[in-house]
Amino acid sequence: MTLEITTSGPDQTAALGGRFAPLLTAGDIVILSGRLGAGKTLFASGVAAGLGITERITSPTFIISRVYRSGFLPLIHADAYRLGTMGEFFDLELPDDGADGAILIEWGDAIADSLPRDRLKIHFEGDGDQRVITFHPMGQWETRDLGVLA
Ligand SMILES: Nc1ncnc2c1ncn2[C@@H]1O[C@H](COP(=O)(O)OP(=O)(O)O)[C@@H](O)[C@H]1O
Ligand SMILES: [Mg+2]
Repeated sequence: MTLEITTSGPDQTAALGGRFAPLLTAGDIVILSGRLGAGKTLFASGVAAGLGITERITSPTFIISRVYRSGFLPLIHADAYRLGTMGEFFDLELPDDGADGAILIEWGDAIADSLPRDRLKIHFEGDGDQRVITFHPMGQWETRDLGVLA
C-alpha cells in the first residue's frame, strides 16, 4: 500500500525526513525518485538530522556516494541520477564501510525491476512550494508500519 503526503515548503519536507529516520535499520535500501529540484536531497538531509548526523548533507552527484557516520546509524547517501541503465546499479561503488548502515539513493525516475526486491521507493513531485511525496514499500518494507509519517 502506498502512502501519499503533501508538504508545503522545504521545512515540511525536511521534517518528514526526520520522522522517517527512526524507521531505518541497517541494510535498508531507499530510492528517492523525482526530477532535479524535486526535494530528494532536502529529504535526505532531514533523514540525516533525524539520525543525529551532524555533518551537512550535500548533493553527492559528482562523487556518487558519501557515508555519514556521526549518527545512530551509518547513512550512505548516493546519487545515481546520472547513471543510464539499471545494470549500473550494481556497479555503483557503495562503500564497504557503510555495509552496516542504511542507503538512500537519489535515482531520478528511472526505476527498473532489477533493483533488490526489499526496498522503499519515495517519489517526489510538484512545483512551487508544494510537493507530493509518495512512499511505495516493496518486499519486506510492506510489513513495516509507516503510520508515524502521516
Ligand atoms: N515542499 C518542498 N519540499 C522540498 N523542497 C522544496 C519545497 N518547496 C520548495 N522546495 C525547493 O526545492 C528545491 C529542492 O532541492 P533538492 O532537495 O536539492 O532537490 P533534488 O535533490 O530532488 O534535486 C530546494 O531549492 C527547495 O528549497
Ligand atoms: Mg539531489
